[in-house]
Amino acid sequence: MSGNVTLKSEMPAVTASGLDNVVAAETALSHVDGEAGRLIVAGYDVEELVKAHDFEGAVAALWAAAGLEPAPSAAEIRNALGRAREAAFGYIPALLSSKRHETVTEGLRTGLSMLADEPGEDAADRDIPAHIRAPVSALGAAAVITAALVRAEAGKSPVAPNRHRGHAEDFIRMLRGEAPAAAEVEALNAYMVTVADHGMNASTFTARVIASTKAGTISAVVGALCALKGPLHGGAPGPVLDMLDEIGTRENIEPWLERKIAGGARLMGFGHRVYRVRDPRADVFNKAVTILTNGNERVRFAREVELAALKALRAAKPGHRIDTNMEYYTAVLLEALGIPRDAVTSVFAMARIAGWTAHVMEQERVGRLIRPQSRYVGHWPEGEAAA
Ligand code: CMC
Repeated sequence: MSGNVTLKSEMPAVTASGLDNVVAAETALSHVDGEAGRLIVAGYDVEELVKAHDFEGAVAALWAAAGLEPAPSAAEIRNALGRAREAAFGYIPALLSSKRHETVTEGLRTGLSMLADEPGEDAADRDIPAHIRAPVSALGAAAVITAALVRAEAGKSPVAPNRHRGHAEDFIRMLRGEAPAAAEVEALNAYMVTVADHGMNASTFTARVIASTKAGTISAVVGALCALKGPLHGGAPGPVLDMLDEIGTRENIEPWLERKIAGGARLMGFGHRVYRVRDPRADVFNKAVTILTNGNERVRFAREVELAALKALRAAKPGHRIDTNMEYYTAVLLEALGIPRDAVTSVFAMARIAGWTAHVMEQERVGRLIRPQSRYVGHWPEGEAAA
């Protein structure tokens, strides 16, 4: 420092504009090994977590790993989530009458903003233990809001939650107005458990930054959703389905891909900042969708497009290791579950809120404001020494 002016040369250069390889937190929640294609969540390999737990169980495991005390059991989460869905249903008329959104995900952003950072003891919330009331109300509300918005888009009125059902099952029931098949519930649970947390991705980092200001759990969740909805993060599945539709036929696969890549387009559902091999979550979804659909024509077509896209990307970008990311099969899986494409990111958020809120718990315990610096590269006042 010279006087109270920091000179250009005294600030370290930005190592990478996307903060690649910067370690921003210590976490007991999840670990992404991009070279091995391995994801550990709450002490389990993700494939094992899916076998061991439904969504409620994964939430309990994550929040326990976050150090929440007393750590709720899966049964307590299930009970609290049922009550939170009932509480959220009370907000739906106000949300639907406000109609200031274009997409389901924008509507979810509005709906979650209607929750209080410190939920009180009103009739609907009172039975949810106070230490999990805010995160549970966000999880419960996300499912109720998403289902209601999808129905509203189709001109249908919302279906009330049933707190005695599991969370994934009740979501599909609220969406369709009828009970789902057991295989569908299993597939949605597999999806939600698999995406519940994933290292220091953009939305999780956003949640932690907001939590570090002590703004509160709901604020952190709303901010994280805003980061998630971009097509480079959780907004990719809709465009994946658009791509499959646009390609349309087998004969068109190669010419379409070559044209797009030559034109500089990014193929949605491929590439990742951390994974340099296939995203392990893509395999979990691939299996789930194959069981669900019996490997129908849409799934076979998606696989052919995937193989051709990988071949084309390797030829066009020989210096980069671009593989299939989880958004590719998320798109196909959630489509098979009847979830419209503009709601796919909301369903991702319904699950990822488990991870965001766990990170909020961890960050609040750290208790230190996240406040990095920037390097000034603009003009300096007239006559000022710049170096
Ligand atoms: N299609 C075509 N080219 C690609 C793609 C792709 N999907 N992904 C990366 N590249 C190219 C990119 O154009 C660049 O080439 P060049 O050096 O010639 O300009 C090179 O590969 C490296 O790209 P990068 O931007 O440095 O890579 P990144 O690590 O920043 O990108 C990514 C990661 C996810 C933003 C990118 O792969 C992408 O845009 N993928 C498509 C969108 C997508 O599928 N998003 C979901 C991500 S996974 C879900 C999640 O974690 O939220």
